[in-house]
Amino acid sequence: MKRILLGVSGGIAAYRACELTRLFIHSGCEVQVVLTPSAEQFVSAMTFTALSGKRAMVVDDLEGGSSELYAHLNLTRDIDCFVVAPATADTIADFAAGKADKLLTACQLSNTAPLVIAPAMNVRMWEHPAVQANVRSLIERKAHFVGPSSGSLACGDVGSGRMADPEEIIDFVYEMLSNEPADFSSGELTGRHFIVTAGGTREYIDPVRYITNASTGTLGLEIAMAMMDAGATVELLETGIEIRPELVPRFTEITRVRTALDLQGELARRLPDADGLVMLAAVADYGPAHYIPSKRKKDGDAWQLSLEETPDVLASMKQLRRSDQLICGVSLEDSDWLERAKDKARRKGADMLLAVELGGDLPFGRSKLNCAMVTGDSVLAEPGWREKHELAAMTVQWIAGRLGNAGADD
Ligand SMILES: Cc1cc2nc3c(=O)[nH]c(=O)nc-3n(C[C@H](O)[C@H](O)[C@H](O)COP(=O)(O)O)c2cc1C
Repeated sequence: MKRILLGVSGGIAAYRACELTRLFIHSGCEVQVVLTPSAEQFVSAMTFTALSGKRAMVVDDLEGGSSELYAHLNLTRDIDCFVVAPATADTIADFAAGKADKLLTACQLSNTAPLVIAPAMNVRMWEHPAVQANVRSLIERKAHFVGPSSGSLACGDVGSGRMADPEEIIDFVYEMLSNEPADFSSGELTGRHFIVTAGGTREYIDPVRYITNASTGTLGLEIAMAMMDAGATVELLETGIEIRPELVPRFTEITRVRTALDLQGELARRLPDADGLVMLAAVADYGPAHYIPSKRKKDGDAWQLSLEETPDVLASMKQLRRSDQLICGVSLEDSDWLERAKDKARRKGADMLLAVELGGDLPFGRSKLNCAMVTGDSVLAEPGWREKHELAAMTVQWIAGRLGNAGADD
């Protein structure tokens, strides 16, 4: 049986913590609820006591108010997980600052079990740089965030800030606890900073039309996540791909780029400060030779477009990189895909490329790819069908190995 300490802080979503308690109990967990004094303004402790079968605690005054003198230490002893749902901006700030003036915040400091935080607040509050900075700092300390999701908020605004559904929180906790060792940072890339690029560039014909490709950016995101799990900080350059809102705070920065030229410019500016680049963005190889500044109207005639090659972004990094930096990328080819990937790595000066076969079943958005890992002159991992998360783990391992040996063969 899993033992859950459920912290409830004072937001309008506190009522949803009742359902969360009920579902945790229903799934066979033992649940102890702790409320902040302001949470009790929204839902009474009695409700949680009735739902959990254990006296819910709300102790403002740590010394005097509790019938149990060391509640702030005892509540976190032997628990499997500390879940805070809803987590207000205020409680998140207290956690980030390491404050301990309420029972709930003191529990955070005495807790050594995994911490899962389900934020809930107005979208403008959630997006405020102070809140985002607190979230980042907690993530760096290995807190897990689930949600918030997007939708209509209690205040009438629409956007990200809704507490994740209780079922989603429970699924997250169960999945995390069963994968606990794998989920925790291996630390292999701690102190390293990388740029990851993801998604297909958009080469604009006019303000509303563009040429792109079918890249979804999922492999880039998967690799970025694995790198951050291994302790790296990552800035993401992306082309408009879908990123789950709860993943956003994990990145030091996310920058939207549109064209191959934009991407090249951003990389040139940022590369000097990074330990390397993982170039997963799918650059549209061709773009219109001339940009039309206003939307072309239909006039009954066929439209002949003249295309020209876009800059080879990966190859252009060859001139900009230092020898202590790593440049990795991906090569997607249909015929002769392994040899062509090796040739690309040589020509473009990439240290490693993931070679992916563009087979009959197009690889975009699929979870499994027929792929290999190559350098300019060797095959590091033979071709095989691999899940994207396996590819991400292999990439992290290879990068960590190379950085560990940096300079050895330069
Ligand atoms: C009606 C009402 C609704 C509120 N909803 C939220 C909310 O959803 N999220 C939030 O971060 N703060 C919300 N607040 C503000 C918090 O209640 C306030 O910051 C409080 O100090 C939080 O304390 P706690 O984090 O110790 O529970 C709300 C306040 C009121 C009056």
